[in-house]
Amino acid sequence: MKKIIKKVTKTKNLTKPVDIRSNDGSGWLYSDIVKDHFFNPRNFMKQGEEEKFKYDGMGRVGSPACGDEMVLWILVDEKSEKIKDCRWRTFGCGSAIASTSVLSEMIVEKGGMKLEDALKIKPQDILARLGGLPDRKVHCSVLGDKALQAAVNDYFRKTGQHGRIVTAGSKIIDKVLNITDHDIEEAVLEGAQNLEDVQKKLKVGVGDPEAIPEIEELIRFYMEKYYG
Ligand code: FES
Repeated sequence: MKKIIKKVTKTKNLTKPVDIRSNDGSGWLYSDIVKDHFFNPRNFMKQGEEEKFKYDGMGRVGSPACGDEMVLWILVDEKSEKIKDCRWRTFGCGSAIASTSVLSEMIVEKGGMKLEDALKIKPQDILARLGGLPDRKVHCSVLGDKALQAAVNDYFRKTGQHGRIVTAGSKIIDKVLNITDHDIEEAVLEGAQNLEDVQKKLKVGVGDPEAIPEIEELIRFYMEKYYG
């Protein structure tokens, strides 16, 4: 995890984002942007606002890494396919609050993000806008990302566009222990960086050694996807 996020965001009156992850990935500092979004969350669904907020799609996801939950509502302009407004609520931690707050800004700014672009948002995009998160908190940014995809899918379902629904799908990789690619993804999000780390968590490939090349390929893929 040598690559460190340095992209500067456009948020005003805040100190420049700094590299908040130490070289060995053990840092626990938070950028000013993270703190600002945590203390002043944007587009948060306030108590009692649910009945008033008209929405076209809703996504609800939980994190197996920590048991927290996220709900995100989107209002879509049918003609332009842009997300005109959104709200969210979470039982997640401060990093999840900051990540989803900044994500909500990203999807409604400049007249709203197109659905196809919203589906392309990756956790790295959220981390870049936040000025980074400590490694052990990266999984918190995935909650908002997944809730957005679920909300867009819900919109496609409600509008009869079933062919456009994007499914994550999981595939069994270790046939002895029935371990899926999704389990490996979660292990990487929880901090595993190589085969040894993943095996410590899952015992994957121990009883099914033929699966090891695919497991290593998946670890590389998820490391690249979430940590760049
Ligand atoms: S969302 Fe659960 S620890 Fe951050």
